[in-house]
Amino acid sequence: MDHKEIIQSTGKYVAHEFCSEGSGHDWFHIDRVRKMAVRIGIQEKCDLFVTEMAALLHDLDDWKITDSESTALSKTETWLNSLNVETAIAAKIIRVIDEVSYKGANISTPVSSVESAVVQDADRLDAIGAIGIARTFSYGGYKNRLIYDPEVPVDLHDDFRSYKKSAAPTINHFYEKLLLLKDRMNTQAAQSIAEGRHQFMVDYLSQFFDEWEAKR
Ligand code: NI
Repeated sequence: MDHKEIIQSTGKYVAHEFCSEGSGHDWFHIDRVRKMAVRIGIQEKCDLFVTEMAALLHDLDDWKITDSESTALSKTETWLNSLNVETAIAAKIIRVIDEVSYKGANISTPVSSVESAVVQDADRLDAIGAIGIARTFSYGGYKNRLIYDPEVPVDLHDDFRSYKKSAAPTINHFYEKLLLLKDRMNTQAAQSIAEGRHQFMVDYLSQFFDEWEAKR
């Protein structure tokens, strides 16, 4: 198989794996991240095969949906092996995937390649703006969380374990993650896209709290 066929076949495989995903990590999330990663990846002169493959596979073994403590990328590795992707390239793809995830407000997530930088940016862009808001409430519902509870303070997690275990209302997640992402973009291109999406969330929250207090 050539690279184009490998990407096509990976897209089909992932679409199938994510066809009944209700946590906001559905196939359309993957597809949006892939499109954004390719868009930014062209500007950043990335290896587009590694970029697109990592974007397609980035949530396959994700802790948020597999509920596993393990960081093993078994499904991803198995899939790459089955396509006979060259070992060095497969290792690069897996490294990118490993570096994508957000782990909490006070935990840094360094990237070791431009491809990691771009896929991380693309995934984070999908967590903010209009789509980010929709996905955040969808994930909160999936976890049976309240929309908002004024009694529960925001917690800027210092360790990944407490971030993972958080059961706080969904609005808190804006302050623990979404509103912080704008300043955590790696590339210039992602930074400028993030500005508009960030402002949209700020406006949304202001309307939300006004409605909460019956002011608007
Ligand atoms: Ni993702």
